[in-house]
Amino acid sequence: MSPTRTPSQWSAAFIGTGRPAEADDPALYLRKEFTVAPGLVSASLHVTALGVIEPYLNGNRVGDEVLEPGWTSYAKRLQVRQHDVTSMLGPGVNALGSIVGEGWAVGRIGYPPLTRRRIFADQVGGFLQLELHYGDRVEVIASDESFRAGSGSIRANSIYDGQVIDKRCEAADWATPGFDDTRWSPAKKIDRDHSSLVPAHDSPIRRMEELRPVSITSTPRGSVLVDFGQNIAGWVRLRVSGDSGTEITLRHAELVVDGLPDYETLRSAKATDCFILSGAGVEEFEPTLTYHGFRYVELEGHPGDLSAEDIRAVVIHSDMDRTGWFETSDSILNKLHDNVVWSMRGNFVGLPTDCPQRDERLGYTGDINAFAPTASFLYDVRNVLGSWLEDVAAEQRSRGYVPSFVPEIKDTPDAVTALWSDAAVSVPWSLYQEYGDADILARSYESMAALTRSIEDLLDENALWSKGFQLGDWLDPDAPAENPMAGKTDPHLVASAYFARVSRQMAQTAALLGKNDDAAHFQKLAERTRTAFQAEYVTPNGRVSAESTTGYALAITFDLLDPQQRQVAGDRLAELVEKSEYRISTGFAGTPFLLSALSDTGHTDAAFRVLQRRESPSFLYPVMAGATTVWERWDAVMPDGTLNSTGMTSLNHYAFGAVASWLHQVIGGLVPTAPGYRSVRIAPRPGAGLTYAHVAHETDLGRIEVRWELTDGTMAVEATIPEGIRAELVLPSDPSSRVIEVEAGTHTWTYDAQAGDTGFSAMSTLEELAGDPQVWVRLSAAFGEEVAQFPLDALLEHASSSPFATVAAQLPLRPGGLERLTAIITD
Ligand code: BGC
Repeated sequence: MSPTRTPSQWSAAFIGTGRPAEADDPALYLRKEFTVAPGLVSASLHVTALGVIEPYLNGNRVGDEVLEPGWTSYAKRLQVRQHDVTSMLGPGVNALGSIVGEGWAVGRIGYPPLTRRRIFADQVGGFLQLELHYGDRVEVIASDESFRAGSGSIRANSIYDGQVIDKRCEAADWATPGFDDTRWSPAKKIDRDHSSLVPAHDSPIRRMEELRPVSITSTPRGSVLVDFGQNIAGWVRLRVSGDSGTEITLRHAELVVDGLPDYETLRSAKATDCFILSGAGVEEFEPTLTYHGFRYVELEGHPGDLSAEDIRAVVIHSDMDRTGWFETSDSILNKLHDNVVWSMRGNFVGLPTDCPQRDERLGYTGDINAFAPTASFLYDVRNVLGSWLEDVAAEQRSRGYVPSFVPEIKDTPDAVTALWSDAAVSVPWSLYQEYGDADILARSYESMAALTRSIEDLLDENALWSKGFQLGDWLDPDAPAENPMAGKTDPHLVASAYFARVSRQMAQTAALLGKNDDAAHFQKLAERTRTAFQAEYVTPNGRVSAESTTGYALAITFDLLDPQQRQVAGDRLAELVEKSEYRISTGFAGTPFLLSALSDTGHTDAAFRVLQRRESPSFLYPVMAGATTVWERWDAVMPDGTLNSTGMTSLNHYAFGAVASWLHQVIGGLVPTAPGYRSVRIAPRPGAGLTYAHVAHETDLGRIEVRWELTDGTMAVEATIPEGIRAELVLPSDPSSRVIEVEAGTHTWTYDAQAGDTGFSAMSTLEELAGDPQVWVRLSAAFGEEVAQFPLDALLEHASSSPFATVAAQLPLRPGGLERLTAIITD
């Protein structure tokens, strides 16, 4: 990232046609010729736009970024990218050019009735500053009224609606020296101050992959249908030859029903490109000023047969390093995980969006709040989410509230809602957990504290968030189809639970940053809200009001229960899921926590059963129905293959993909026990007939890998731990299981995986062990000899659902003590 500049360091102006943008305006072309003197040492080009820009030098494209400068809260933060262009210039006359499309700044954005044009700027404008370094001086070529403005083949362009490319209107050499631009007009300066210009971060949007068609067929209406086999964000590149004026339309779709594309998931987004041939032999079309969320494309007007060699789907997204991998012996589970990764790829296009296909694609706060821990395991999201969090803070500072989506596109304020607004606290907190970098919290601190205080002001006299609009457990499958926020869990229970969590995260953040007064204040708030939640929603024994799976999942994972209540709640949650035949019954708020609430309270089996259910609604139902991404609604596509016509049926929404974190942590067994993976616990819990799992994670300290494989009753475990990470490992299915401190390096263990004579292992919970008086009495006695100050009965009260090995790992046992106790448990 280049250093931040002050406004006075920019000599460039935003330039355009001088006219307000109209729908269907052609893309703006800008150009200027200039002379490079001998002795050029280096040259850098700084570029941004009101709209999206593609710069050129001497006819060659500068950089490989697309849809630059991405979407930020432009009024406060507009990214400028710096390119080293030394090698693109030569002495003599050179030409600087650029194509600027409407993008998000000027084009139509938002779902009806919000949909509007020109939300962030009235007209499309380019901003280019070329700095020529000659050793003794710097010459600057800066966009101003000496540039010429014209147009070319791009006759219309819109993020939602698509792009029209008419090759008959293209002058091939428009960006090279010598092009006759006398028919173009002088560019006009756009009045815009430069205080919002910030250096671009290092995860720009790029073309990341290309997909070949998996089939090309004709539809009943005679059009050509191409299936790329994968739902993506991007566009299609087509090579074609035909007569001048031949018009080919390409309409993008996520679903095909009875041989025809179903466009309903796009709502009002036209997602249609139109290519018009010049007739000059083989021509290549690639619409790069728009993007679509699609798996299929329907072509009309294609001359002759379409060959698979001539068409590609181009996958675009923010260019981030992949950091997390997961695989098991079960291909269906692997597919679920792949789908999560693809939904992340489809929704990290410059910012974290809800979906890539319909007339939203907005930076929804709640969606990324649910998904941030998973996202940050899979990819290095520091640039994209770091930038987005700056926008959250900037919007909040200027508007006084955290919008439901950032950048904000409305003029009317949003209500403060749990899960959505409190992304301002929980997303930085998730990033801190992943990267262990307190600067992330420091940068967001003002925003985090302001949001927490704003909710604190809304609490009633009992410290409950009991009033006001809430989205609740959004998309609970039991909510009426037409009202996704009317889930069965009281939305104010959800709100109060989330706020207790937020207050605790806030208290920990303030303490960590040494803000002691705030820490004391937020700590008190955390205690008050937790107590208030218990008083209002939890019975003394541990039932949670209204007995919804989400209510239980939140109470358990947000630590809102006392130990004995927690176990009762976990047991009750397990009963509820069993009663419903392991049907999923949680929405956005509860789903990320459901499986861990079960497995953390000794019900890993039940969690596996929920995970493994294949009928709707379930995690695997979409996979069985052929999904290649995560759906917005559990039953977005009905068992008969038709779309569930409820309106919330994007087939590419990552929120429910948060389940992947459970796959990584429980099946893979990799759990961070300190921020930034400075210490980890490795404790895979095989289940549901799995015989193999592999999880890998690239941390700042190096790559951690865990692999386990069960063959004919023999378990083989391999763990790789980098230097600087403290690791403890609990071997899965090991009758003599111990907690092992693992040194850096790669280690393997091979052992007989059968359970011991007692049927228990060191991973049995205290409660399970206490259920067998014979084992318990012997164990308690031996335990007393090891650590007299910690009577086992007392530990049972506080940690009944914890595995014995986990409890023992925290106590000062004598050398060999754990082996001795484990032998009592197993033999
Ligand atoms: C979006 C969701 C979002 C919700 C909340 C929807 O239209 O696609 O993912 O969180 O609205 O209002």
